[in-house]
Amino acid sequence: MNQQYQKPTGTRDVIGRESWQLSKLVGFCLGIAKNYGYSLIDTPIFEKTPVFLKVGESSDIVQKERYRFTDQGGEDLTLRPEGTASVARAVVENGLYNEPMPLKLCYAGPMFRRERPQANRYRQFLQFGIELYGSDDPKSDAEVIDLARALLSEIGLNAVRVHLNSIGCTVCRPTYREALIRYYRPLVTDLCEDCQRRLDQNPLRLLDCKIDLSYKEKAPKTADYLCAECDAHFTQLQHILRILDIQFDVDPFLVRGLDYYTRTVFEVFDEKLGAMALLAGGRYNGLLKQFDGPDLPAVGFACGLERLLAASDLMGDDEDTIYVAHAPNYADQAMKLAQQLRGLGLRVEADLVSRSMKAQMRDASKRGRLVVIVGREYDEGHVVLKDLTRGEQKLVAHADLPSIVFAELDPR
Ligand code: HAM
Repeated sequence: MNQQYQKPTGTRDVIGRESWQLSKLVGFCLGIAKNYGYSLIDTPIFEKTPVFLKVGESSDIVQKERYRFTDQGGEDLTLRPEGTASVARAVVENGLYNEPMPLKLCYAGPMFRRERPQANRYRQFLQFGIELYGSDDPKSDAEVIDLARALLSEIGLNAVRVHLNSIGCTVCRPTYREALIRYYRPLVTDLCEDCQRRLDQNPLRLLDCKIDLSYKEKAPKTADYLCAECDAHFTQLQHILRILDIQFDVDPFLVRGLDYYTRTVFEVFDEKLGAMALLAGGRYNGLLKQFDGPDLPAVGFACGLERLLAASDLMGDDEDTIYVAHAPNYADQAMKLAQQLRGLGLRVEADLVSRSMKAQMRDASKRGRLVVIVGREYDEGHVVLKDLTRGEQKLVAHADLPSIVFAELDPR
């Protein structure tokens, strides 16, 4: 195909099984969020550009990765790179802060970042996220992390690693910031270009650098600079996580790429994805105020659904297709039977192009394991059920077909 028609770099056409699996995953996520009392919010996929400046003017998302455009009316717009800023804007604009607190909102949809594409890192990707407003109590941080655990466990990811840290608040962070600048200043000529720039703009991000790793070991640790309130908050959070049996590692150098965080930050990793986070989030107490809203504390997380899918075994968990084949003159009965089986929630294919029986069987073998053959036996209330993998077949009374098919599909 001519290059000008090909999809943009870093985007994908999601087709067939993967597409089903992703929508199934959205269903799992929303179902779990509902169990934890969340309601759904859908915000536009683009916002006025200043909305995302709240993510942090020195962040990569704002400095390098924005899909920013001016529309025909001259409006400065940006495709959303994440959901937290949009939800904060929507909470203020719709007066949701008047609802009973805590306010719990979840969302799922595409996000856009012009990152360097690689496996599991895309320029358009799907995120599921949750945002909890109105509680500064570490119980809410713990419940948010517990929701992440429940979600990952639901898709079979029980061996994930939770990295946890507290990066302090507006009271204690400036002292930590100064300590970092003091530590890194003499090393500045050895630092990468990005870190040289970050040193004055946002020195915490130096700890996040993948190039200048060696300097990090001796850098000042956030934990040594927390004020008494932040320290107590972090200690209490760890206590509740232990009560909830959630394993975590305190990572004293964990900072996040977005500037709105205060106190708790966390990232979750799985072996299959290595150093790429599966899920990430934290507390962001000052954000709502930046949108001219009340000073409400908040905490949340988001996960990349493509990454969840890549790490889980869901991809292998494909539903069986049942094929309804028919002998000549039994096409009507086969259509009716396929309709009945679909009505029971089964995934059923029937011949739609009047193929010969032999061609139908060939088609069936490409689609699944079980074939129901509608032929002469139908007149006596029977059909033939054939298992293509085992090469076995049996005569089944029409009325018993659903229960036998269900037992075949799930022998437990
Ligand atoms: P984030 O760390 O930028 O945080 O992204 C959260 C998750 O989105 C990542 O852990 C990853 O799974 C997925 N993700 C990010 N970028 C990509 C990409 N280019 N391709 C595929 N997946 C990606 C946030 O977005 C915050 N809004 C999270 C949050 C919510 N904090 C508080 N509330």
